Amino acid sequence: MHKSDVWPADLGPVVCVVGARPNFMKMAPILRAFASHQPAIPTLLVHTGQHYDRDMNDKLFEDLRLPHPDINLEVGSGSHAVQTAEVMRRFEPVLDEKKPSCVLVVGDVNSTLACTLVGVKKSIPVVHVEAGLRSYDRAMPEEINRVLTDQVADILYTTERSAADNLKCEGIAEERIRFCGNVMIDSLLNNLEHARSPAITLQAAGFDPALIQGAQGFGIVTMHRPSNVDHPEVLGALLGILREISASIPLVFALHPRTKGNIERFNLGHLIDHQRMIVLPPQGYLEMLGLMSAARIVLTDSGGLQEETTALGVPCLTMRENTERPITVEQGTNTMVGRDIESIRYNAVEILAGRGKSGRVPELWDGHAAERIADDLAGWLLERHSRL
Ligand code: UD1
Repeated sequence: MHKSDVWPADLGPVVCVVGARPNFMKMAPILRAFASHQPAIPTLLVHTGQHYDRDMNDKLFEDLRLPHPDINLEVGSGSHAVQTAEVMRRFEPVLDEKKPSCVLVVGDVNSTLACTLVGVKKSIPVVHVEAGLRSYDRAMPEEINRVLTDQVADILYTTERSAADNLKCEGIAEERIRFCGNVMIDSLLNNLEHARSPAITLQAAGFDPALIQGAQGFGIVTMHRPSNVDHPEVLGALLGILREISASIPLVFALHPRTKGNIERFNLGHLIDHQRMIVLPPQGYLEMLGLMSAARIVLTDSGGLQEETTALGVPCLTMRENTERPITVEQGTNTMVGRDIESIRYNAVEILAGRGKSGRVPELWDGHAAERIADDLAGWLLERHSRL
C-alpha cells in the first residue's frame, strides 16, 4: 500500500453525497473519520436537497455536527423520475468542476442512485456504503435504488455478512465487497451521551412530560412507507391498532410529512387525536435517540430504526412484510409484523408483558465502521493513483 503523510495534490477530493434524512447519520461519522485519517482524506459534501424542511434537515445537521454542505443542489420534492433526473442534471457539473477522486454515496434513497449513475458514466469511481441489503421487494423504491447502485458502484462496503451473499448472487465480484460494519451505529454510539431526555423533548413540543412518566413507560411510533400510508384502508387500520395499543401504553408518534398529509387527506385525524397518542413533528437526532433508548417498545416501518433499536436492545415491531436488514431479526430485537393487525396486537402484548426479544449487538456494530472505511478507501485510492 502507498504510504504518505499528505494527500497527493493531484488526487481530488472524495465527493460525499447526502440527500435525505437517513443519509445524514451515516455520513457524519464518515466525514469525521476521513478528516482524522493520516493522511487526511479531502472531502466535498454535496447535499442534493431531497429533504429540505427544518425538521427533516437542518435540525439533523446541527445534532450530528455535520458541516454545512459545500454545495446544495436544492432539488426538493417531485415524482421519483423528476427527483432522480433533477439530481443527475444538477450533479454532473459538480463532477466536471471538482474532478473528484471518487463519489461516495450512502443508503438507498433516490439521491444515492442518481449520483451513482452520474459518477460511473463519467468513469469516476463510486463507493457505496451500506451495500448489499435486499428486501427482495421490488415494489419498494429503495430496493430498486439498492440493486442498481450496487451493480455499477466500484467498492461496496457492507454492514452485515448476509449482504455479501446477496451481492454474489447478483454476480458481483468478491473483490468489490468489503465488510466494514455499520456507520449508523457509529453515530448512535458517538451521540448516546448527548441524547436529549424525553421529558425535555415533550416539554419543548408543548406536552406535559407527566404523560410519559407513568410506571408503564411509553412507546415510539414512526411510519412513512408509501405501502403503509398511501392507502386509506391500510393507514386507517394501522392507526386503529396503534390507538388500541395506546390504551395500554402512551405512544409518542413522530409524524413524517407524507403521513401527516395523508392523515389529513383521508380524514383519519380522529384516530390520533387522543390523550395517550402524543403526536410530534419529525424529531431531531438527539431527541429521537433519547426517546428510543428510553422506550419500552418501538413500532416502525423505518429501515434505520430497526438497526438502532437492535443496537440499543429495545424491542421493535416492524410494520413491513419484509426487511433488508435480516440480522436485526436473527440477532437483534426486531420482529416483523407486516400490516397484520392480529400480529401487531399479539406481539405488542408480548413485549408489554416483558416477553420481548432482548437480542445481541451484531458483529462490527462497534462504533468504528467509519474508521475502517477511511483506512480501506484511502489505501485503495492511493494505490490506484500510484498506478495511473
Ligand atoms: C425518503 C426516502 C426513504 C427514507 C425517507 C426518510 C427515497 C426513495 N425515499 O422517503 O428511503 O426512508 O426519505 O424520510 O428516496 N417532504 C417535506 N419536507 C421535506 C422532505 C419531504 O414536506 O423536507 C414531503 C415531500 O413533499 C413529499 C413527502 O414528504 O410529499 C415525501 O418525501 P420524499 O423525499 O419524496 O420521500 P420520503 O417518503 O421522505
